[in-house]
Amino acid sequence: MSQHPSVSSPFLKPFFLKTPMRVVSPLRQRRHTLPASEFRNLTPQDAISVFEIEREAFISVSGECPLTLEEVLHFVDQCPELSLGWFEEGQLVAFIIGTGWDKERLSQEAMTLHVPNTTTVHIHVLSVHRHCRQQGKGSILLWRYLQYLRCLPRPRRALLVCEDFLVPFYRKAGFKEKGPSAISVSNMRFQEMEYLLGGQAYARRNSGC
Ligand SMILES: CC(C)(COP(=O)(O)OP(=O)(O)OC[C@H]1O[C@@H](n2cnc3c(N)ncnc32)[C@H](O)[C@@H]1OP(=O)(O)O)[C@@H](O)C(=O)NCCC(=O)NCCS
Repeated sequence: MSQHPSVSSPFLKPFFLKTPMRVVSPLRQRRHTLPASEFRNLTPQDAISVFEIEREAFISVSGECPLTLEEVLHFVDQCPELSLGWFEEGQLVAFIIGTGWDKERLSQEAMTLHVPNTTTVHIHVLSVHRHCRQQGKGSILLWRYLQYLRCLPRPRRALLVCEDFLVPFYRKAGFKEKGPSAISVSNMRFQEMEYLLGGQAYARRNSGC
């Protein structure tokens, strides 16, 4: 696999969204302002915030969640470059956690494993804080994540499993169905979906990676 010449580090430097300029009286200026909006790889220090969002999004709904706190810590430690968090004024509002995978389709084993140096990214979880849903954040974060993966030297595709009701959401983001997944959790069944990042040499060369 050829290395992308312009990628010197696999890690994502934080980048900030430009917010419209506002005239603020000096008296009203805060002395220590956190960035309004920041995207960066997750660190073990973010694990609790990640798990809090997961717990509300999944455990309260189905009693299950994609990753336990230990798995979040493990994956963020093993492959931080495959995670992405969206922070607003320092607070995590949405995140994605991915790991490496080395087979054509996802299997049960993929749920707890990171296979390093592979061309497939397994997206374990995308979750948005409940106060921030239905505002486009999930779609925007997913789009940024997929663009970011294009800038990494290895990934050529992303795989995920989701319940039927989320198939249209991922389809809109450019994923294609690969059929029912071999993975099951309790009584839940999933569709497997794939997003191809490869064959985009021009896009990679010209995307500012
Ligand atoms: C699914 C999720 C990531 C979407 O993020 P979001 O910021 O709310 O979504 P966006 O505002 O970008 O997009 C909205 C679209 O998402 C889809 N969508 C979101 N939640 C949905 C749900 N519960 N059922 C069906 N579709 C849903 C719809 O297509 C919706 O489109 P519409 O506005 O035309 O109806 C977010 O709702 C979430 O974190 N849910 C709980 C955790 C989860 O299910 N994660 C995905 C599995 S890992």
